[in-house]
Amino acid sequence: MAATEKKNAAPALTPATFSVAGTTVEFPVYQGTEGPNVVDISKLYSDTGHFTFDPGFMSTASCESKITYIDGDKGILRYRGYDIDTLADNCDFLEVSYLLLNGELPNKKEKEAFDRKMTLHTMVHEQLHFLYRGFPRASHPMAVMAGAAASLAAFYHDSLDVNDPEQRELSAYRLIAKMPTLAAMAYKYSIGQPFIYPQNEMGFAENFMHMMFATPCEKYTVNPVLARAMDRILTLHADHEQNASTSTVRMAGSSGANPFACMSAGIASLWGPAHGGANEAVINMLEEIGDVKNIPEFIKKVKDKQSGVKLMGFGHRVYKNYDPRAKVLRKTLEEVLGELGKIDEPLLKIAIELERIALSDEYFIERKLYPNVDFYSGIIYRAMGIPSKLFTVLFAVARTSGWIAQWKEMMDDPKNKIARPRQLYTGEKQRDFIPLGKR
Ligand code: SDX
Repeated sequence: MAATEKKNAAPALTPATFSVAGTTVEFPVYQGTEGPNVVDISKLYSDTGHFTFDPGFMSTASCESKITYIDGDKGILRYRGYDIDTLADNCDFLEVSYLLLNGELPNKKEKEAFDRKMTLHTMVHEQLHFLYRGFPRASHPMAVMAGAAASLAAFYHDSLDVNDPEQRELSAYRLIAKMPTLAAMAYKYSIGQPFIYPQNEMGFAENFMHMMFATPCEKYTVNPVLARAMDRILTLHADHEQNASTSTVRMAGSSGANPFACMSAGIASLWGPAHGGANEAVINMLEEIGDVKNIPEFIKKVKDKQSGVKLMGFGHRVYKNYDPRAKVLRKTLEEVLGELGKIDEPLLKIAIELERIALSDEYFIERKLYPNVDFYSGIIYRAMGIPSKLFTVLFAVARTSGWIAQWKEMMDDPKNKIARPRQLYTGEKQRDFIPLGKR
């Protein structure tokens, strides 16, 4: 059933009454299958001449979606109704990507066909090698990824027509399958090593790690425990409702921009330290703290608003409880460090002590600041030998499945229209122009 049909089918609750400047209007209230009800204020401006004002969209539902549900107070995250820890423990990333895209888990035959189709799209056009060579070797890999993702539109003209469902599906396969290749190429280019081609007999995470760490000089075997951990981490990062980068993708897509350009916009938004860039910032923070004995001093700085210092990897716009992804990542971290014989990793000791202190400190308790998805992921990546500049790139590789599923859901909605918010204008009123000679 299409999203819009479900919205109309939702039981109409008692309408909301709103009065402003002597005008009283009624707005429909819709109830979803879970989560807060919504007041449909789309007629507010035409009925009252007023806009709503909600910077940061703290109280705004930008769309109707069936993909991901979050309950921030209870620390719940579900993709298409399945709890994130159940999916992380029982599925692989491509199975979860299929679920996000299609709404149901695949049966054996569907999964084999989906995996095979993805495999056949992992290679990128050979000309892309020249695009990479145009970047300085020291470029931040997110800059390379933003450029490379958008550049796919220059190569794949047969999947640019956003009004053709088949081309939308083809671009979804291409983006999910090629992001790991682009990411590994960004890493190889930054360390001056040759690009490694995808291997069709490998699984998604194994192939990604092979492209990252293999060289043409000798056979490289990916540690299966690390490949499974990487695959699980990708699942945990795959989607997250209408976060900043997903909203950016939807906003870009609402103008009819092609999906490659929309993913590039999502990568740009994810790069920020308040969003996906936080995993890199967490490692920098732990390294800056340097030793458990320095934690009290650091916490003091965090509490001093003037310092501008934040406890990176903590806090969340929606979760006012422990991020369920952080719980799975904490378990995965111990598994990876155990496998690598690094269980006494100094950064882990600092992270665990920092978490213990923060969770017992009134400042963080009253603000409901808990570890989020970024708090532990960086330590796992670092233990795997992945440089911190690549952490947000891995986030983008995973989130591409969510971004493209959300984009597809929006494009499948016949009522989709260009997103065009308004504003509260507090600038100058009309004034007389003064020619340059008289200023
Ligand atoms: C992701 O939206 C998503 O779903 C994102 C994400 C996804 O999967 O897509 O989950 C991925 O982006 C996770 C978040 C990663 N970012 C970080 O770890 C950066 C550190 N966190 C903060 O920047 C902050 O917590 C945000 C941006 C995540 C959320 O900020 P909000 O919701 O705007 O909350 P706020 O800034 O209004 O904070 C409320 C209070 C403030 O103090 P007071 O003004 O009330 O005194 O809490 C304080 C803030 O100063 N606060 C923090 C803090 N986060 C909030 N204080 C210290 N350290 C922090 N990390």
